[in-house]
Order: sequence, then C-alpha cells, then structure tokens
Amino acid sequence: MEEATIYDRLTKEGLGRLIHRFYDLVHQHPLLREIFPEDLTETREKQFAFMSGFFGGPPLYMEKYGHPRLRMRHLKFPIGEGEARAWLACMEQALKDTVPDQKLREDIFAALARTAVHMINQ
Ligand code: HEM
Repeated sequence: MEEATIYDRLTKEGLGRLIHRFYDLVHQHPLLREIFPEDLTETREKQFAFMSGFFGGPPLYMEKYGHPRLRMRHLKFPIGEGEARAWLACMEQALKDTVPDQKLREDIFAALARTAVHMINQ
C-alpha cells in the first residue's frame, strides 16, 4: 500500500485553512509586509495551487502557470536569512493555529524549511 501523502493527511480544506492563516500573519509581519503586495488574494490562490502539488495532491500550479521555477521567481525580492526566518515563523504559527496533528505539523514544516533555504538570495 502506498503511504499517504501530506496532502492526503492535511486534506484540501486543511491546506486552505493553513494558507489563509499564514498570509494573515505575513500581512501583519513588519519585515514581510514590506515585500509582499498589499492585496494577497492572488498570492493566496497561487500558493494554494503550488502547495497542493508540492504536498502530493493535484498539481494545480503546474496546470495553470507551468513550472514554478521558485528560486527564479523570488529573485526580484530581497530575501536574506531574516526574511526566511520570518516566513518560517509565520508558517510555524499558522500550523499551530490550524493543524492539530503534531506529527503532520512537523512533516509540513520540515518540507517547507528545506525549500525556504533555497529562496535566500542576499
Ligand atoms: C511568491 C516571498 C519562501 C512559494 C512570493 C512572493 C513573495 C515571496 C514576496 C510574491 C507574492 C506576489 O507577488 O504575489 C517569500 C519569502 C520566502 C518565501 C520572503 C522566505 C524564504 C517560499 C517558499 C515557497 C514559496 C518556501 C514554497 C514552498 C511561493 C509561490 C509564490 C511565491 C508558489 C507564487 C509565485 C507566482 O507568482 O507564481 N514569495 N517566499 N515561497 N512564493 Fe514565496
């Protein structure tokens, strides 16, 4: 039997709750609010599409926008260690607020922490 993916464990609704909470926190964060757009509607939508595939669910981002080329897309934003740490802190808080299963929270955080390191460009 194949192992359940993070997407299966989190569910589509859970992913929606996580992303919603995450961008509410990003919007309030003094460091991150400077580099993100004021209106996060499209950002939320794109991140949902991306994380759906990233966590083993439907590859919605690829279907709609093509290959994400994440590092390249982040080059126009100044991302140092501080920004990466802030992004991950918002994610950690959003996980605590929306995902009751601790093991699942840890698995999600580990996967995102590995990726966040690659976005550092300063
Ligand atoms: C877009 C910042 C890490 C996935 C963005 C945008 C910013 C940003 C400013 C543009 C938002 C917009 O214009 O709508 C950061 C910072 C990070 C980080 C400071 C800290 C390390 C990550 C990670 C992932 C990710 C770890 C994936 C696991 C995305 C995606 C988009 C995006 C999918 C939308 C790309 C598109 O426009 O099509 N990010 N990001 N980011 N980010 Fe990040």
